[in-house]
Amino acid sequence: MSEKLFSGKKITVGITGGIAAYKAADIVSWLNQQGAEVTVAMTKSACEFITPLTMKTLSGRPVACDINSLDADFHVPHIDIASCDLFLVVPATANIIAKAACGIADELVSAALLATSAPIIFAPAMHCDMYANPATQANIKTLSARGCRFIEPGEGRLACGAIGRGRLAKVEDIKQYITDFFAEGRLLSGRRVLVTAGPTYEYIDPVRFIGNRSSGKMGYAVAAAAVEAGAEVLLVSGPCSLPVPAGVKCVRVTSAAEMEAAVREAYAEYDIVVMAAAVADYRPEQQAEQKIKKGGGMEIKLVANNDILKGLGADKGDHILVGFAAETQNLAAYATKKLVEKNLDLIIANNVAQAGAGFDGDTNIITAISPDKTEEWEMMSKRAAGRQIIKAISELPRF
Ligand code: CTP
Repeated sequence: MSEKLFSGKKITVGITGGIAAYKAADIVSWLNQQGAEVTVAMTKSACEFITPLTMKTLSGRPVACDINSLDADFHVPHIDIASCDLFLVVPATANIIAKAACGIADELVSAALLATSAPIIFAPAMHCDMYANPATQANIKTLSARGCRFIEPGEGRLACGAIGRGRLAKVEDIKQYITDFFAEGRLLSGRRVLVTAGPTYEYIDPVRFIGNRSSGKMGYAVAAAAVEAGAEVLLVSGPCSLPVPAGVKCVRVTSAAEMEAAVREAYAEYDIVVMAAAVADYRPEQQAEQKIKKGGGMEIKLVANNDILKGLGADKGDHILVGFAAETQNLAAYATKKLVEKNLDLIIANNVAQAGAGFDGDTNIITAISPDKTEEWEMMSKRAAGRQIIKAISELPRF
């Protein structure tokens, strides 16, 4: 007997109201055949397009259709179906995407999406104008920034006869996406990953510091992706207010010196280090104990901080070291210099002056450089970039 792809996996399939709902039948049947425990949840509108009986037959399990159901199959339907290894929404209408982006929970599928902590994959299908509408695009961007994934709809003839982008991705492509998703979940299994994120603050006096514009989003996204890929993850975070991704251990630091101490303390226990933090290169030589009062000029003498990553590179052993390079010009040349000088396996370079790659945005445009190849990645959400970085690490010759 051939091995099943998804044995032991619980997958919830939310079906919403669009003509492509009938295509979900094939996907549900395939997931079931591949050993997944599939629970189908349908909106009222989806039930107009395809029957719950079809889905019950193909999944081999009860189907949830009503948040207020007295049916004995579900105790609290939206909470029961929220508990899974993957929540797939296929087809996903503009409406369910908008509700998920806003946290609206007015029926079974939207309520379950709000309750779930599982990874969510949307396979959108709608009229091309609805897909192209800035509201839908903004909702997709919001959800992507929260870690949701989207299987891009295809272009072609739509149900109404119009031609454009909006038809459900090919069923075979959706199946491949799900297969890749679960494979990604094993990429770093058994590995221990240390990630640094955010800025460092170098205090001048108790109320003033020298910092930088790093938001921490990129490093937090790498930490989240590493956990999703099965690694044990320590995040050493500079000051930022982002929520720590589920399953990630976090140590908070303020200055570059504190970050260096925390990283050095953990170094021996971790085999992969991703230095996404924007570490301050200089600190004031003196830190005043009291607030410095105004009057006259103020001169601050700065002294250099240690380069944490360079120090790790000099003491590399079996570690895999990944650095970032924030540049405003000569991206590839400066980044390659850092790759060599810091003895790295991979450097993630981005031009922070470029639109879509800035410090506080939700997207990034990356050039990934390793000793044997250079790749330019298209603009993507920082969450997607985090996953792509993990994939690139898993493909390194020293991995
Ligand atoms: N880095 C570090 N310690 C520092 C400065 C930087 O570990 N004191 C790390 C960063 O986390 C990043 C990489 O080195 O992974 C490159 O950082 P970047 O600020 O781009 O470059 P610098 O090495 O500081 O060089 P420059 O500021 O001259 O561009």
